[in-house]
Amino acid sequence: MMNRFSHYIYMDHGATTPVLKEVADSVYDAMTLYYGNASEPHILGTESRRILENSRRTIAEAINASPEEIVFTSGGTESNNMAIFGTAEAYFRKGNHIITSEIEHPAVHIPLRILENEGFKITYMPIDKYGIVDPDEIRKSIRPETILISIMHSNNIMGAIQPIEEIGEIARQAGIIFHCDAVQSYMNIPIDVKSLNVDLLTISGHKVYAPKGIGALYIRNSIKTAPQIFGGGQEKGRRSGTENIPGITGLAKSTEILLPTISKRAQELRILRDYIRDAILSQLDGVIYNGHLEKRLPGNINFTFRDFTGETLVKKLDEYGIAVSAGSACKSGSTEGNEFLLSMGVCQGLTRNSIRISLGFENTREEADYLIDCLKEICGKDIKSSVICNNGLKEKYFTF
Ligand SMILES: Cc1ncc(COP(=O)(O)O)c(C=O)c1O
Repeated sequence: MMNRFSHYIYMDHGATTPVLKEVADSVYDAMTLYYGNASEPHILGTESRRILENSRRTIAEAINASPEEIVFTSGGTESNNMAIFGTAEAYFRKGNHIITSEIEHPAVHIPLRILENEGFKITYMPIDKYGIVDPDEIRKSIRPETILISIMHSNNIMGAIQPIEEIGEIARQAGIIFHCDAVQSYMNIPIDVKSLNVDLLTISGHKVYAPKGIGALYIRNSIKTAPQIFGGGQEKGRRSGTENIPGITGLAKSTEILLPTISKRAQELRILRDYIRDAILSQLDGVIYNGHLEKRLPGNINFTFRDFTGETLVKKLDEYGIAVSAGSACKSGSTEGNEFLLSMGVCQGLTRNSIRISLGFENTREEADYLIDCLKEICGKDIKSSVICNNGLKEKYFTF
């Protein structure tokens, strides 16, 4: 269907994604045909319960978990809150120390700050110039009273993929619960909770072409988490509230569609991502490519511009009909949250000069060429000169 956004080029998939047609159809059916309350014994309730349990199986199989280890939530924020508060509450007698990284999403950082005010001790692991935490530093930070490690699978801003398997092994050997926020990775990178040694894993629907307001938390069978939402005792008492069958159906449908194509989509996205990166770095002056060349989300590009703020570039590209992002959408349109770029070697004063381009499988080479042309026009330059990757050479170029 044509609308006034039909010709808009959407390159902000890290913020959210459009809902796939097949997913929207399944959500519509769940709303209009299978609308029974899954707790009721009549035929409509039974049908909803069947859909609920089939969906749970689909999500569980996608991450190599068992169905009873999946709890449906309202999204990534709730899953992260539940993992952190739920673990802290269940294990506080064992210890009050938690390890996390500098670059977690606010839905992890803010619960941890609240726990800090309540007497918990939090260690924030630094990142290297690629935005990646060092598992050895995590190992060294473990204390007898450490109860939880919470490290994201991949970062929402510069896409850094963290060494989750190594961290999982460290946590397992030390007998510490390991939570992983996989909101940006789910359905973009294969995830196997067993081989990663993850105990709690966060998933969100709206980053994977499913609706907003649906998510899940994987909770390993052997782990206790204290419930954070109380009421009718749904989800085996772990998360009360009438189940969101339309959202759950949508998440399961998008998982069914995306799971078989993860490797193919990732490969195509990497090619498009690197094409844009190479074109910008070779044709524009004063641009840094932030993050690792390979250890990053297949569709993630993050640049810092010497001469433009991220906000300016986002507005200008919007005028050209292209949506990208400056900083994290998770801070309600602000460009705060990019401070960690300092740790990655971006100069003080330039952390607001970054944009994230996050590609989806619908983006094409023509759209990439248009983006490149628009950036060239906006930046007003077409010269091949001091262009660098973020490899520690920034002082050479960015001294002004
Ligand atoms: C890494 C990460 N964690 C958590 C969230 C929050 O997820 P939701 O929007 O589903 O609450 C986001 C959303 O941007 C995210 O990128």
